[in-house]
Amino acid sequence: MERFEPMVAIDVDTKEAALKLFDQLAGDTNHTPIVKIGMELYYAFGPGIVKQAKQRGLAVFLDLKSYDIPNTVHRAMRVIGKLGVRYTTTHAAGGTEMLKAAKEGLVEGAHEAGLPEPKLLEITELTSIDENILKNEQHVDLPLIDVVKNYAQVAERAGLDGVICSAQEVEAIRTVTKPDFLCVTPGIRPNLSVHDDQKRVVTPAQARKLGSNGIVVGRPITQSDNPVAAYQAIRQAFMEGEE
Ligand code: C5P
Repeated sequence: MERFEPMVAIDVDTKEAALKLFDQLAGDTNHTPIVKIGMELYYAFGPGIVKQAKQRGLAVFLDLKSYDIPNTVHRAMRVIGKLGVRYTTTHAAGGTEMLKAAKEGLVEGAHEAGLPEPKLLEITELTSIDENILKNEQHVDLPLIDVVKNYAQVAERAGLDGVICSAQEVEAIRTVTKPDFLCVTPGIRPNLSVHDDQKRVVTPAQARKLGSNGIVVGRPITQSDNPVAAYQAIRQAFMEGEE
């Protein structure tokens, strides 16, 4: 099963803090950490922040969660495809036509720039959505897990590479998707007693056992006194299964 380096969520609000983390992570020359750049950093600093990460030899997961009409998403993804990122995201709720347009735009942009095609991951339901919101606001009368499984199948049929989901959902998703479909899981804590605002967390080794292809880890690395040591310990646990 494909398993990739932990993705470090760079959730900081200044360029200096982001660049410091990039420098620290890039100092680990034995591995190529993947940094997750989200809306906050990207909206503030633009494509330049992606370039800064890449210049340091880091791989980039650009998590912008595109969600709009198919034509707009196609055009946006074409731009992302030219940035040389390794992973990016879009929303299940946009429907099959939008998902296909996203993938096409991304591939088109990458080809135009002569770059490898980034992997496109689908956001199924945000973890901030619970059964109550699903039923009473979205008027969906199915259990959340069935909605997530369905969205994973929709993503696969539309040609996407995988989904972002909770580690607890991986097993169920694997029952309805092909073996090479990717499941990337946030909500990771090396020490389960420190879970911040995450409600259901698993350790890196548990995520490995549950079948995650990749993990997204933010604060346990970025707020550590020694982010490189924290990264290496989490990497070891996830990649090698050592607690
Ligand atoms: O600091 P922490 O490890 O909780 O950060 C997790 C990262 O994963 C954050 O960037 C958060 O936005 C993201 N994420 C998440 N749950 C999802 C999707 C993304 O925690 N379902």
